[in-house]
Amino acid sequence: MWHRIFLLLALPALLLVPSCSLQTLHPIPIDYEQVSDHEKIVIRFSHVVGEDTPKGQAARLFAKLMKERTNGKVEVQVFSNSSLYTDSEELDALSKGHVQIIAPALSKLTHLVPELGAFDLPFLFSSLEGYHQVFAGPIGKDISESLEEWEMVVLGFWDSGFKQFTNNLRPVRRPLDLAGTTIRIMPSAVLDEQFNLMQVNPVQMNFDDVYRALEQGWIHGQENTVSNIYTKRYHTVQKYMTISDHGYLGYVVVINKRFLQQLPEDVQNVIKKTMEEVSDWERKQAVKLEQEKLKEIYNCRCIEIERLTEQDKVIWKEFYKPLYEKMEQQLGRSFFRELGL
Ligand code: LMR
Repeated sequence: MWHRIFLLLALPALLLVPSCSLQTLHPIPIDYEQVSDHEKIVIRFSHVVGEDTPKGQAARLFAKLMKERTNGKVEVQVFSNSSLYTDSEELDALSKGHVQIIAPALSKLTHLVPELGAFDLPFLFSSLEGYHQVFAGPIGKDISESLEEWEMVVLGFWDSGFKQFTNNLRPVRRPLDLAGTTIRIMPSAVLDEQFNLMQVNPVQMNFDDVYRALEQGWIHGQENTVSNIYTKRYHTVQKYMTISDHGYLGYVVVINKRFLQQLPEDVQNVIKKTMEEVSDWERKQAVKLEQEKLKEIYNCRCIEIERLTEQDKVIWKEFYKPLYEKMEQQLGRSFFRELGL
């Protein structure tokens, strides 16, 4: 009798145990070891920018090469323009396995890896190669290891390029020219401090919302790369643009770690190898697209364009020194020495 009562009470709990632990072990419901050669492996790659940007084009190239190299076994589906997830949602979507690859701006991961904040320092390096060298060295390795602790495997570091200011109030030549304005920034404490120094009111906002905010006059301006400005048509709703090259917009391409590890080893290798090649291509394409899109912006004659001279930049760099000092205190002298500062 007691035996039967115990069984009645305990059975549901006993039945639940295996399903709970399975769920914890395999949060992604597909077991790739069971996938036959005839079935596809689908990789969803979500990003927030336009198709005609370095990231947009490189994501598509990756999809094309993966299809060719795996005879169609791996299908990479690219979702651009925040069509699946916005920037503030995509990390969560990656961790839950709703998408498998994302390529967020470094700034958007600074809350997970504070060292990434260093790349938001204005005028850190004057050429993109300066950033590439750091990513290829010990700092890049440390960043990858830190992101692995967050269940992401780094597949590559991509460029968008250097950021430029746009606004609808006045031309910008000096650091305090934007004082009193409201400017959209990406989520990063360093960017926040940078704009506070400039006596600007910085507003963190999803990329997808910026055009409307500019058009409606909810904010006065923003900072972004030429390809993002052009593809999102900011130049058509802003009066002034300064080619300042003041900040770097780079991406880290990450894949969900559990997803990657469940894939057959040959597929994992194709992904890594293909991404290496695509990353080289992407960096070159970023430079090319910046030139092309800047020409288009000049041609539209719809925005007044200034360009900072090397002498102007000396003044700006001097202005930002307190920000560097603060960051050095936070990240340490040895980290700054590794950056070459
Ligand atoms: C932004 O939010 O401005 C950028 O990070 C968008 C992007 O991914 O280039």
